Amino acid sequence: MKKNGLACIGLTTLDVVARAIDELPKVEGTGLIEGIACAPAGTAGAPALLAARLGVASRLISAVGDDLTGRFIRAALSDAGVDVSDLETLPGLPSSTTLLAVSSSGVRPGFHALGAGMLARVTPGALQAASEVGFLHYGGVGGPKLDGGEGLSIVQAASRAGAVVTCDLIAPQPSAIEEVRRLLPHVDYFLPSAAEAVFLTGQQDLFAAAETFRSWGAKACIIKNGGRGSVVVLDDVSTTLPAYAITPVDTTSCGDSYCAGFIAALSRGWAPLDAARFGTATAALVAQGLATLGKVESFEATEAAMRQMTLSEAA
Ligand SMILES: Nc1ncnc2c1ncn2[C@@H]1O[C@H](COP(=O)(O)OP(=O)(O)OP(=O)(O)O)[C@@H](O)[C@H]1O
Ligand SMILES: [Mg+2]
Repeated sequence: MKKNGLACIGLTTLDVVARAIDELPKVEGTGLIEGIACAPAGTAGAPALLAARLGVASRLISAVGDDLTGRFIRAALSDAGVDVSDLETLPGLPSSTTLLAVSSSGVRPGFHALGAGMLARVTPGALQAASEVGFLHYGGVGGPKLDGGEGLSIVQAASRAGAVVTCDLIAPQPSAIEEVRRLLPHVDYFLPSAAEAVFLTGQQDLFAAAETFRSWGAKACIIKNGGRGSVVVLDDVSTTLPAYAITPVDTTSCGDSYCAGFIAALSRGWAPLDAARFGTATAALVAQGLATLGKVESFEATEAAMRQMTLSEAA
């Protein structure tokens, strides 16, 4: 039986994105701005939401707090078609929330309040889900209930059951190196950002960093590099993919949307390099609107946009 669908495990937050804020006044007062949007986000929450928007049956293994924010996150995901039966509500904790003040030039300082969202864990239900899906996206590195072996157990369960395993990071600490090295032998596609790749490997050259991750066990590596596109290193190809030439409104969740687009295209049988191009197009649409979904509407609309947009020369 061909396995289908995606399970994402790791961080879930609520992103509150406001634009444009070019300076924070030191005195009280209210100013009018272009827009404010709220959406589920995080290394697990965002890809689950975006993949659902792209037509992938997706489920989220994560946690929210027992507050209004948590109920909002659950409702937004559920409305979007994400299976939230493995999204736990943790009593006595707030939901993880990030406030992002995006400037008119797209710079986005963020303010994060810790909460339940980082406490994803591997329950028996989560393990079962991982053994049923076609794709497991692991966004749990740094999670206190996942690092040190639990996270590995779900990655191994998915991999053994034949799922394609993808992995992305958020704000890794030095201790992430040990955890990444533990996971990578079971990861098919590792998708860190350029800053994360340089931080973890000490290599400034992204191709060298990708090869280091492959020497740690990752079968393939895609390093996301903002407006400069991405570096894609597969068994048979090693190349730079340019980003699309767009005017970014808000690049929040671009990295997560690249992952979701990549997975959605792979799940439709696209070759990995073409799937990376689709991930790039998904990210370009996310960058053109506020918060996690930006201007992403569907797989078909993203494919149509991909044909219309032109590639940037900034690679
Ligand atoms: N200014 C931009 N113009 C066009 N495309 C962009 C721009 N910024 C990001 N992208 C696209 O989004 C992809 C992912 O962005 P980025 O490299 O910033 O990921 P990230 O650092 O993981 O982001 P996140 O903060 O969402 O985790 C890039 O590879 C690129 O294709
Ligand atoms: Mg990222």
